Amino acid sequence: MTSRHPKGLPILFFTEMWERFSFYGMRAILVLYLTQETLGSNPGMGWTNTEALALYGWYTMLVYVMSIPGGIIADRWLGQKKTVFLGGLLIAAGQFSLAVNDVTMFYAGLVLLITGVGCLKPNISTMVGGLYKEGDSRRDSGFIIFYIGINIGAASAPLLVGYVGEEIGWHYGFGLAGIGMILGQVVYIWGQKHLKEVGNFVPVKKIEGTKKNAPLTKIEKDRVIVLLISFIIVIVFWGAYEQAGGLMNLYTKEKINRIVFGYEIPASLFQSVPAFFVIIFGTIVASFWAKRNLKGKESSSLFKMAIGTIVMGTGFLMMSGAALEAGDSGKAMLIWLILSYLLQVLGELSISPVALSFITKLAPVKYASIMMGIYFAATGLGNKLAGLVGQLAQNAGELEVFTGIFIFCLLFGALLLVFFKKLKTLTHGAEDTVKNDT
Ligand code: PHE
Repeated sequence: MTSRHPKGLPILFFTEMWERFSFYGMRAILVLYLTQETLGSNPGMGWTNTEALALYGWYTMLVYVMSIPGGIIADRWLGQKKTVFLGGLLIAAGQFSLAVNDVTMFYAGLVLLITGVGCLKPNISTMVGGLYKEGDSRRDSGFIIFYIGINIGAASAPLLVGYVGEEIGWHYGFGLAGIGMILGQVVYIWGQKHLKEVGNFVPVKKIEGTKKNAPLTKIEKDRVIVLLISFIIVIVFWGAYEQAGGLMNLYTKEKINRIVFGYEIPASLFQSVPAFFVIIFGTIVASFWAKRNLKGKESSSLFKMAIGTIVMGTGFLMMSGAALEAGDSGKAMLIWLILSYLLQVLGELSISPVALSFITKLAPVKYASIMMGIYFAATGLGNKLAGLVGQLAQNAGELEVFTGIFIFCLLFGALLLVFFKKLKTLTHGAEDTVKNDT
């Protein structure tokens, strides 16, 4: 793509890969563990589906909402580097608490995980941005590489932790997730020398041109507005995309013909498909956008996000196709599901890594981590919205909900495209790529 990336990138890549392994591994077995009967060889908590899904919804929202305090801790007191380390410790402690068969330890584990992810996830992302100077054109591709790392963790964890949790024992599964996080911490400690000053605490008075409590300049204010607008896109995007773990998962189980060569593939296995698509298509989508840059058509991040929302929405049109084919009692071909995930991921790749990069470009330095925190909190709200939309489908019907999501994304994306030129000027050139491959 472009010239070599800073040495700190592989360190953050592997640390985050293991953190995501730990996160998605635990997430893959959480609901299964909660709903498993309390008797038998691998007993669970004996909750109803509704109770388990409610806890799941709150958990997936809170892990990201806690990124706001995580960002504040980094900006005010510790800097990102130390906050990430603290987060890793809390996560490992959380997973090992879940590994103990005890109800109090279970709840304590969830609290530790929520605070740990809140400290780690936003700040490690800000650190990736910190590897690049302003105007460095490698920043976007750096975030794509980082995003691939995330998805290597996300693709492998449900398979490994899922297997250990379901077949050997839930608590061993949680323990394995904890070991993943420990490996992440080892990489992080070992790699400190490559991170140099990235993520160190910078007192506000030391930030160039910033006085303590100085108000934001007009340009900074405009950029913050653009960021807040992008957060709305993010809520809509994840509100649709995150159907994968809920509604689409159940739909796959009940209405998709999963028999391939005479063997029925378990529905849960399809949970890894989007992450595999990210690994396969990550660099392809990135070079598609990069080539447009080279031809002198710098595509602003908001433009990419609008296109991403539309492409992802088209994925739901494929699900409408499936719902039409399956009708009330039949089954639909697997290809609908695969095409749907493919389009969703192509959209995701034009939004998610782009947004991370965009925030590190635009956020005023003294609010760098808190801005990232708010971005993740928006994702958390999107996750909760996804749960509510999924519930709606229980009454409204899948065909209606899938088609509704498609139409909404299409209109929303089109609206953004109409306004994006105006928004672009608000970024005051921060988006213009400077071609200095330092
Ligand atoms: N797969 C992404 C990740 O785990 C999903 C995500 C995007 C989560 C943005 C939070 C915020 O990083």
